[in-house]
Amino acid sequence: MRYGYFDDVEREYVITQPDTPLPWINYLGSQAYFCLISNTAGGYSFYKDARLRRLTRYRYNNAPLDCSGRYIYLRDDGASVAQTEELFWSPSWQPTRTPLDAYECRHGMGYTVIRSTLAQIEASTRYFVPMGENLEVWELTLTNHRTERAQLSVFSSVEFNLWDAMDDATNFQRNYNVGEVEVADGVIFHKTEYRERRDHFAYLACSEPIAGFDTQREAFLGPYRGYAAPVGVESGGLSDSIAHGWQPVGVQHVKVELQAGESKKIIFLLGYHENPHDAKFDPPESQTINKRLVLPTIQKYLQAKQVEKSFQELRAFWDDLFGKFQITTPDEHTNRMVNIWNVYQMMVTFNLSRSASYFESGIGRGMGFRDSNQDLLGFMHLLPERARERILDLAATQMPTGGAYHQYQPLTKRGNNDVGSNFNDDPLWLILSVAAYLKETGEWGILDEAVPYENQSGTEEPLYGHLQRSIQYTLDRLGPHGLPLIGRADWNDCLNLNCFSDSPGQSFQTTTNKDGKVAESVFIAGLFVLAAQEMQAIAHHRGDAADVRAYIEAADTMAKAVWSAGWDGDWFRRAYDDMGRALGSRENDEGRIFIEPQGICVMAGMGLEDGRALQALDSVAEHLETPHGIVLHQPAFTRYYLHLGEISSYPPGYKENAGIFCHANPWIMISEAMVGRGDKAYEYYLLINPSVREDISEVHKCEPYVYAQMIAGKDAPTHGEAKNSWLTGTATWNYVAVTQWILGIRPTYAGLEIDPVLPSDWDGFEAVRYYRGVRYRIKVERHGTGSTVRLEVNGSPVDGRVIPLPEDKSGEVEVHLCLG
Ligand code: BGC
Ligand code: NOJ
Repeated sequence: MRYGYFDDVEREYVITQPDTPLPWINYLGSQAYFCLISNTAGGYSFYKDARLRRLTRYRYNNAPLDCSGRYIYLRDDGASVAQTEELFWSPSWQPTRTPLDAYECRHGMGYTVIRSTLAQIEASTRYFVPMGENLEVWELTLTNHRTERAQLSVFSSVEFNLWDAMDDATNFQRNYNVGEVEVADGVIFHKTEYRERRDHFAYLACSEPIAGFDTQREAFLGPYRGYAAPVGVESGGLSDSIAHGWQPVGVQHVKVELQAGESKKIIFLLGYHENPHDAKFDPPESQTINKRLVLPTIQKYLQAKQVEKSFQELRAFWDDLFGKFQITTPDEHTNRMVNIWNVYQMMVTFNLSRSASYFESGIGRGMGFRDSNQDLLGFMHLLPERARERILDLAATQMPTGGAYHQYQPLTKRGNNDVGSNFNDDPLWLILSVAAYLKETGEWGILDEAVPYENQSGTEEPLYGHLQRSIQYTLDRLGPHGLPLIGRADWNDCLNLNCFSDSPGQSFQTTTNKDGKVAESVFIAGLFVLAAQEMQAIAHHRGDAADVRAYIEAADTMAKAVWSAGWDGDWFRRAYDDMGRALGSRENDEGRIFIEPQGICVMAGMGLEDGRALQALDSVAEHLETPHGIVLHQPAFTRYYLHLGEISSYPPGYKENAGIFCHANPWIMISEAMVGRGDKAYEYYLLINPSVREDISEVHKCEPYVYAQMIAGKDAPTHGEAKNSWLTGTATWNYVAVTQWILGIRPTYAGLEIDPVLPSDWDGFEAVRYYRGVRYRIKVERHGTGSTVRLEVNGSPVDGRVIPLPEDKSGEVEVHLCLG
């Protein structure tokens, strides 16, 4: 069953009924000011950091679902008070949930439009963040479709968060006493704690003269009434309340008279502004906000013309990004995801890592080291300068040991271990992201960039040195079989082989572990081989023969350790536990085979030559494939195992306990492409492709336009139900899998390689891709079923599959590839 449809021309998903199985959300903003917005206008806004600079309050895990947001109410002042249904309503359906005569929500690229009609009054609100600004626009267009005049009241409403979302949700004894606002010329300023150490405030402005306002929440709502029926809206008048402590809100009342057929635009702005510390107040000795610096911005965006211009700029920004790589294949799901939504989701994960979604509170997690490095892998061609900056930010948090803080807060860019430490895979991902950057841009200078350790000035070393230390970090931590010690966990955060936690409530991610010297990870071994191969190529390019030899040897030695202790006969083992027993082996009754080592070891090239890669992949198909994707392992853990940790804390089929952890699925797609099985790679690609799953939205439940982290596995009663949509490494890895390995358009150190491994029923595809400033027009045609390849570049045959870099750096290259 569907709840909407894709409009690929407009690059929108159009939701046609408001009560979707879960809130289906979008993100606004792409630089510093961000909003989460659902299909019923729920969500919240923040500046840079969803914990430390949150503008509006959001109550997670609420009932009914998703009832904190940026809400507009309409009131029909001409209706009789007895007509409760049509006296007032929410044009975004929530929070009044009045049945609407028409409803549509268009989630687009950085904007959302919610349009509805009730009682012949149409309301369409376009929400977006203008490029480069720290504010959001809600542009409301009202149209009177009646044959007579309509007298309406419009109310805006937001509930201000007292900035630190954690403190806001916990420290009521203080926070009920600190809230402060100012109201001046119809603009509501939220200035809690501005009197002391904050230099920033929020504001809610409106393009129309206001008939009244409220800033004290209960004055607007009335005691015990809630947002579904605020007394201020019902009665048609606000009380001009000024918040002193309690819960400051921003509510404005605008009266509108519309003739039959008439339309009117009303613009609301919610924004963030930071004043210079020494110019906070006006007059300086007062406690009144200095508004002189912010007013020009407010005035600018209250103009309808400027709003339209900014909206067009936003469209142009996205057009430009999408223009960097477009494909035309025989399959609409592939086209739609690669050309639109997968790119969009990568941008969101690039910006937010795993911090703020409808499943991540914005409080717990900053930019993850492992996560952000992976998020870059498919992102490089979009905004390479921002990728470069991110790489350097991440590397600057690295420790002198080569180890990594598991995350950093975007506001301070300082690493912290608040969400755990000693994940022994972390440092190796930095090598992969740097390698991807070099392959995309050819900008080798980044390796010489001086980058500190732990952000300490004086400790700077070229980025290349950081990469060397990442390798060394693993080599310094090898276990009894010569495999890497796992530390707290590896990519699978829940495989806590040194945790031994038996106290309720202890966090598996942060509890002090045993200083494990036995538990080893075959996954890290595979990742190490992959990273060491990249280091070898990088060292080769730098002309450092000694390093080349060292990395070849390190990769070989590690591969040998995998073959002697990590191969189980039909697949790669997963790990060794603290007692030195194998996990992910035929010896195990539960957790006999895992997806991760099959993917990463084959991606590192292991077993490609002797058939063992094929064997491992066949085992994946036999034991782990389901109609909804590939599960993480089998059999699921049926009880809690002290020596395995969080993985066995989940009921079978959920999350890391044999859920379909979508992030790891593309590793198998890539591996299948590497062994030349295009049909199998593509079959896996389609299984978790959100657009394909649109038809079963009532089962899948999450948004059909973005990947979710997890789909319940076959051991769960809800097999096929997704959770944790949006912020997942699944976005970047699927993009890499389909563009670089199935379509085979792959950046390499030497140039762009074209090496498709297509499903057998495709007769080809076309693509346009910008690479190192040059436009490549690529046409792939299949002339037979064999695996020979004929490559022509600008009409001339070329040996191999890598297109030589063109002399003319601004030109265009025609690429024609025949498979047959
Ligand atoms: C989740 C993991 C996540 C970890 C760290 C665990 O509870 O299952 O998916 O990586 O927390 O946040
Ligand atoms: C989600 C985390 O963000 C990621 O770092 C981890 O690799 C996966 N879960 C698997 O546990």
